[in-house]
Amino acid sequence: MNWFIIFITSSVGKKLVMAFTGLCFVLFIIVHLFGNLTIFLGKESFLSYVEDLHRSHKYLIPLAEVFLLIFGLLHIVFGLVLYIQNLKARPISYNLRKNAGGRTVGSGTMPYTGLFLLIFISLHLVRFRFVEKITQNDFTILINTFNNLGYVIFYILAMVALGLHLSHGIWSSFQTFGVNHPKYNGLIEKGGILLSILFAVGFASIPIYIFTKLS
Ligand code: HEM
Repeated sequence: MNWFIIFITSSVGKKLVMAFTGLCFVLFIIVHLFGNLTIFLGKESFLSYVEDLHRSHKYLIPLAEVFLLIFGLLHIVFGLVLYIQNLKARPISYNLRKNAGGRTVGSGTMPYTGLFLLIFISLHLVRFRFVEKITQNDFTILINTFNNLGYVIFYILAMVALGLHLSHGIWSSFQTFGVNHPKYNGLIEKGGILLSILFAVGFASIPIYIFTKLS
């Protein structure tokens, strides 16, 4: 166990934990997005998706939730530690660093988009997960939430943050796992950006659709 603690707290270990937990979140996001997009097929399709999910994966869902919580905490704590270590290692002013080679909007804003996503996910869980679901179902919660322009704008901003965070995060995870070949680097980078845009647009389309068509 000792070797594991030493490895995981080393610089490479921390980056591997960030990359692994980050990619697990990407898998969750893919499943979550496809599930939520059933709203475009109508109320019945959306509700039967939610019901099926809970009925046929009765044990898998609580287990996945525990993993999501542990991975989320690891991602936040290790991300914070790496951010502080980077600040200490490069005590050069932001103005000098911001034009350094290879920096993109996504990479330069990772700590800020990460913090925004933490706030978003906390509020999102309060609104959709830790809520009474006897007198209301997921569909009515969605409609009541996205009836409100404030929520719609907040979700759109959060999805911009998600897209920016992933546009660098996906690429960076592949680099950490050593998937780094001059022939494929361009493809991985562009693929990561394309996926990030699809996630952001896909999720943002839901509040916009509900606000404009179902409210
Ligand atoms: C417009 C966008 C989104 C909509 C409409 C939406 C909708 C929902 C709904 C209805 C639930 C409750 C599901 C249930 O009780 O089974 C939920 C849970 C959740 N959502 Fe979202 N979501 C959105 C975006 C996101 C994003 C971008 C993330 C993460 C980055 C996220 C993370 C979660 C998590 C972690 C849960 C709890 C899952 C569980 O405990 O089973 N959601 N969401």
